[in-house]
Amino acid sequence: WLDLDLATMSSAAGSDTSSGMSSGMSANKSPATYGMQQSMALAVKNGRISAIAPMAVVDEPLLPKASIAGRGGWMTPGLIDCHTHLVFAGSRAEEFEQRLQGVPYAQIAREGGGILSTVRATRAASEQQLFDLAVPRLQALMREGVTTLEIKSGYGLTLKDELKMLRVARQLGDAFPVQVCTSLLGAHALPPEFSPEFSPEFSSEFSSELSKGSDAYIDLVCRQMIPAAAEQKLADAVDVFCEGIGFSAAQCERVFKAAQNYGLAIKGHTEQLSDLKGSQLAASYGALSVDHLEYLDASALQPLVENGTVAVLLPGAFYFLRETQLPPVQALRDAGIPMAVATDFNPGTSPLASLRLMMNMACTLFRLTPEEALAGVTCNAAQALGLSDDTGKLVVGARADMLLWDIQHPSELAYQIGVPMLKQRIYQGDVSDV
Ligand code: NIG
Ligand code: FE
Repeated sequence: WLDLDLATMSSAAGSDTSSGMSSGMSANKSPATYGMQQSMALAVKNGRISAIAPMAVVDEPLLPKASIAGRGGWMTPGLIDCHTHLVFAGSRAEEFEQRLQGVPYAQIAREGGGILSTVRATRAASEQQLFDLAVPRLQALMREGVTTLEIKSGYGLTLKDELKMLRVARQLGDAFPVQVCTSLLGAHALPPEFSPEFSPEFSSEFSSELSKGSDAYIDLVCRQMIPAAAEQKLADAVDVFCEGIGFSAAQCERVFKAAQNYGLAIKGHTEQLSDLKGSQLAASYGALSVDHLEYLDASALQPLVENGTVAVLLPGAFYFLRETQLPPVQALRDAGIPMAVATDFNPGTSPLASLRLMMNMACTLFRLTPEEALAGVTCNAAQALGLSDDTGKLVVGARADMLLWDIQHPSELAYQIGVPMLKQRIYQGDVSDV
């Protein structure tokens, strides 16, 4: 132990919470365990957890060397936001006003607003501008304990602009103590220059090829964007928006095939506004996750089970769009499908840079237990990013991305919002006060 930094992982909660169910899978009345271990010491070496042992067996004389005194607090893995659109330019506050006056999200999108208004602003922005705009959003997430996040493209919709967004996402990961995974979301919306009502205000590198239609745009995604993003190692995964205002299941299938050819993981925005069976399709291609899921058919979950696909719940978008159709949480739970929770941070449907608020909303709006919400932003979120091996859990060999909380019990993480309770954030073994 001599060369190691030590941290305690002890709880003041008492032994009354240490009986009962296994982590995350049940909504019965027995007390949640949170996979809790009491009065433990944790050692870090080379940015990874090198040992975990009961405090009782760690020699008292070693403890003054400890860099963190965590006694009486709780330590959790770093939080993971597995679905964000953090990189974009422009604001959609006026669209928010419009929607509050009753204009539906889908109608705004069809009329060239919505996602496409962010596309206009993002195309016009430089890489540096996009980076600068993303920094405060990232810092807000990090201040709450996020140590890993996913960032999607999808507001460029040209080869050049999609790669620009992905480069910015990679640069954010290089510049800040946070692990960034990237997803190419070329199939997010049909860019104006490919739509029948092309208007010349959208000039771009493709403006000479008017009205090619959405199949032609999917050709571009499959033949140019995916190969380039893969070759330049800018994308870890490929995502789609399978929806009436996005792309059909058949078009998404073409994108999944291309992603597979280039060895990229698969994710999907599926069943957000209607049931196009995109979740089952994505799962059948081995998707890491399917996300949103409000309209997912509760009786058709087998493909998710068989492929270990994570169900990512996005209560911020549900709330912000004032949706009423709930995702089939009990059916997902009954089927043993891991559920993750993410911010979906984006300018149109979830301008909410708080993962802990999402934990709260997942409980209040979707009836997750606080224990499920915590699993949803740690181990299950890691699985949604293909990072289960070494992220999202406190085990020997895992990345030493961990949080020390000033709380009495982990249910508080989903309970109280707005009052800071993170004491220390540890990223790959480096400690920072918050
Ligand atoms: O995850 N569903 C599609 N994409 C985003 C919203 C994007 C936008 O409105 O700008 C989402 O909700
Ligand atoms: Fe999204």
